[in-house]
Amino acid sequence: MTQLPGLLDTEAIRKDFPILDRTVHDGKKIVYLDSAATSQKPRQVLDALNEYYERHNANVHRGVYTIAEEATALYEGARDKVAAFINAPSRNEVIFTKNASESLNLVANMLGWADEPYRVDHETEIVTTEMEHHSNIVPWQLLSQRTGAKLKWFGITDDGRLDLSNIDEIITEKTKIVSFTLVSNIMGTHNPVEKIVRRAQEVGALVCIDASQAAPHMVLDVQALQADFVAFTGHKMVGPTGIGVLWGRQELLEDLPPFLGGGEMIETVSMHSSTYAPAPHKFEAGTPPIAQAVGLGAAVDYLSAIGMENIHRHEQAITAYAVKRLLEVPDLRIIGPATAEDRGATISFTLGDIHPHDVGQVLDEQGIAVRVGHHCARPVCLRFGIPATTRASFYLYSTPAEVDALVDGLEHVRNFFG
Ligand code: ALA
Repeated sequence: MTQLPGLLDTEAIRKDFPILDRTVHDGKKIVYLDSAATSQKPRQVLDALNEYYERHNANVHRGVYTIAEEATALYEGARDKVAAFINAPSRNEVIFTKNASESLNLVANMLGWADEPYRVDHETEIVTTEMEHHSNIVPWQLLSQRTGAKLKWFGITDDGRLDLSNIDEIITEKTKIVSFTLVSNIMGTHNPVEKIVRRAQEVGALVCIDASQAAPHMVLDVQALQADFVAFTGHKMVGPTGIGVLWGRQELLEDLPPFLGGGEMIETVSMHSSTYAPAPHKFEAGTPPIAQAVGLGAAVDYLSAIGMENIHRHEQAITAYAVKRLLEVPDLRIIGPATAEDRGATISFTLGDIHPHDVGQVLDEQGIAVRVGHHCARPVCLRFGIPATTRASFYLYSTPAEVDALVDGLEHVRNFFG
């Protein structure tokens, strides 16, 4: 078995993930290489969800009876865990949403309805990048269409990095918000936060970071990032679906208007007007995703017990090995950084002129699960003049043997298509 320095004890870790024992297609053991789409869930998270529904289920912040108070304590306890996990200065800066898309839409809508000095209008500019997931493009397009603000973006270099050569022309005195991904969901590129944040701060623009592909894989310290907003999702970090997070700086959350109205987010309501609860509740209208937040709390406990530095080191070792092995496959072209440096554990590639959907199907027949398509990041495919890629993404339970299985699988695909 291939041994690499820095690997976690995957034999022990994999015992926590029941699904990894599954077989498909007549007994082929599943090789799960699609954690960038969604991670698998350990027993500890599944147990927390079950325990919540079996023993504590009630609505939060409402009942005065025992299990309602338990549910509230569990829900708010999950907020404490997330706040500690991202080093938030205050638990009130952690807003629970449905997913990262909702978190990013929330930021766009806060700004869309804001007064000065945050107001986005036809005299202002919004900046994003060509490397974004659609969830960090479309909300800004909607905001731009609604307000007349100009949408600008950074391009991508041939090796899959952000092209910041024109940073002073892209981020200007007119820029109100710069929103970009920390790690690309399609190419794995790890972006240079400091340089972008410094320029944004020079012109007084707000910064929003999509950390969906970073929070599961590395230490995420919102204070070190120096951004104003950070968005991520629970289901990619061994938590359940249906729970996302928006972290925002407290003074902004105090100043900015809510987006969704309803129960939970108010202080008083009359038929003429309402006043709002303080953040984070101001931004959490309606019954929140209670069980999902509890599950995310358990996920954070699970990841923290292993240690985010250890998880990151493991993934770096696996990714370096995967880059090396994939480059041995004839006709394989990595889309994005073809190195192990400054990148996450997600690798997109093309294989000669075999369509990625065919690659994915033949791999599936061997039990290997990868994602194929444009990965909700179609501008990246357009940039490289390709319709789609095959994407392999790794996580704390991935092994060198699974990289080998992928490489063997790709050989099989090549033989299959002659
Ligand atoms: N955002 C997820 C992905 O990149 C779904 O696959």
